[in-house]
Amino acid sequence: MLKHLIDPLDLSLQELDQLLELAGRIADNPGRFAHVCQGKKLATLFYEPSTRTRLSFEAAMLNLGGSVLGFSSADSSSAAKGETVEDTIRVVSCYADICAMRHPKEGAPMVASRYSSIPVINAGDGGHQHPTQTLTDLLTIQRSKGRLGNLTVGLCGDLKFGRTVHSLMKSLARYEGIRFVLISPEELRVPDYIIEDTLVAQQIPYEEARRLEDVIGKLDVLYMTRVQRERFFNEEDYIRLKDSYILDMDKMAMAREDMVVLHPLPRVNEIAAAVDNDPRALYFQQAQNGVYVRMALIMTLLGVKEC
Ligand code: NCD
Repeated sequence: MLKHLIDPLDLSLQELDQLLELAGRIADNPGRFAHVCQGKKLATLFYEPSTRTRLSFEAAMLNLGGSVLGFSSADSSSAAKGETVEDTIRVVSCYADICAMRHPKEGAPMVASRYSSIPVINAGDGGHQHPTQTLTDLLTIQRSKGRLGNLTVGLCGDLKFGRTVHSLMKSLARYEGIRFVLISPEELRVPDYIIEDTLVAQQIPYEEARRLEDVIGKLDVLYMTRVQRERFFNEEDYIRLKDSYILDMDKMAMAREDMVVLHPLPRVNEIAAAVDNDPRALYFQQAQNGVYVRMALIMTLLGVKEC
């Protein structure tokens, strides 16, 4: 049984399918789930900025009839006084039934899970993983394309530091007939360990491209990402690379009629505002789906039954 969600592969394929199925049922009839977590508390422990992830976790718990507590920056927690994640989670375990943690250090939520007596959800750890964004992405792909296999998925932008990209690749690689097109500047390529452990080891077909316009026409899904400024070592590199890709209506004209555009958000410059009105742009719908998958995940980890 699932105890924590730290890495996307903590969910078996069967558990993942069940969770997405539950999220789909919640999306179709959210009112039915309005009281299933009454009396339960979610703690959001956010040591890094967030809008969607934290608020969608909080909205998810409130929608289930539960309550929320937490902090939204390291400065406003005892981390500023030097408290370790181990100690913080031991204490939070006394106050809440489940927690979501975002941390700039890779592996911090995993360490927390070892000291926790309540389920810990990784809400993003440094440039490593972001498994609940992946649930959001998968639900959006499944509901728009009708499947998670047999898809050509283009990932574009900062594939090096983008944790949402890393988690999505790991998860999609488990479905039949997935092909990846990795579109990034040389400096922001997918890390070698992901190419080796996920793509080569599982013989997943992939190609790398530098120009979006060269490959956009063959994609079923285009996943745009922002250049992750906060993970750069120097500002000049960020400035040089930040506008490497801008999806505009000229590029959308080269894409298939049924291609869908996803973005975990926040967007900076990488998608022109004009694209928002194109029916293929699903990123705001994706943000809505984030609430449904987090509702399903909280229910699953708390072992809450549908009434
Ligand atoms: C992403 C993240 O935090 O990794 N945002 C999110 O959770 N929706 C993507 C990003 O910050 O670029």
